[in-house]
Amino acid sequence: MNPNPVDAPTAPAGIAEATVNVNGVVTSGDRAVVSVFDHGFLYGDGVYETLRTYNRRPFLPDRHLARLRASAARLSLEVPPSDAELESRLRDTMRAVHPQGEVMLRILVTRGVGDLGYDPAVCRTPTVVIIARPHRESPERVQRDGVRLVVASVVRNHPRSVDPVIKSNNLLNNVLAMQEAVRAGAYEAILLNHRGELAECSQSNLFVVRDGVVLTPPLDAGLLEGVTRNLLFEVGAEVGLAVREAVLRESDLPDVDELFITSTTREVVPVVEVGSRTIGSGSPGPVARRLLRRLRERADRLTRAAD
Ligand SMILES: Cc1ncc(COP(=O)(O)O)c(C=O)c1O
Repeated sequence: MNPNPVDAPTAPAGIAEATVNVNGVVTSGDRAVVSVFDHGFLYGDGVYETLRTYNRRPFLPDRHLARLRASAARLSLEVPPSDAELESRLRDTMRAVHPQGEVMLRILVTRGVGDLGYDPAVCRTPTVVIIARPHRESPERVQRDGVRLVVASVVRNHPRSVDPVIKSNNLLNNVLAMQEAVRAGAYEAILLNHRGELAECSQSNLFVVRDGVVLTPPLDAGLLEGVTRNLLFEVGAEVGLAVREAVLRESDLPDVDELFITSTTREVVPVVEVGSRTIGSGSPGPVARRLLRRLRERADRLTRAAD
């Protein structure tokens, strides 16, 4: 019997290129294993973070680890390793990844292995996994031409259900929205909240530009407080752009000059169409470009400064 959960020669590229750290032990992506009794697998009972490197160094690890702990606290889930230990595991895990180019890092903390049942007491020790694999830059056309989104029919989780502020491994809400985007040949799906307002996308936050002001849905719209979203408030101030929270609706879209989405791995992506509606001029706009340039400058400076 093949002991490997994924047959090495046929492992898809993303898995074959990955290095994985399971509870402190580093293995290749095709050999990494977690028990089927892990409550992360059984119930999605866990939290995660996605980071990327610039200059081969994790960008803003302190912010990601703070959010990881905040997410875990919302589930009464412990994250036993200290931040220093987690950062050291990040470095150990990415060391084995292809030595050229940037790295994507995913940290997962689950309730751990335990008998069937929802009582957290059946799991003694959380499982801590780090996946490191080469970061994939978006194709050039994404920045050059912009992308198309759709508005999903599935709504974002109600904050009193699985609160979107928790970056949880329980991702079916996001998966269902993204399936709609895939079926429509779109890059991402916008999710509305239970009040019908724009909330965020399946794996990114959403911004519009109207009359020179950059607006993004407020946290109480029910969304993940993106690290990149927060960074844009700072980067916007640096370049003299007002970046504010505002309640946004689909009916606002005809009046916006630009729309863009943000995430750690995608940075700032210009959107030129939502469904069959053209956004602004139908081409990527100058505000998104300016914010992206400044974000990359900041990332470069911060990761070089670590020398
Ligand atoms: C639902 C959701 N919103 C927003 C984001 C963007 O967050 P960040 O900028 O921290 O990557 C993500 C990232 O994965 C996400 O999953």
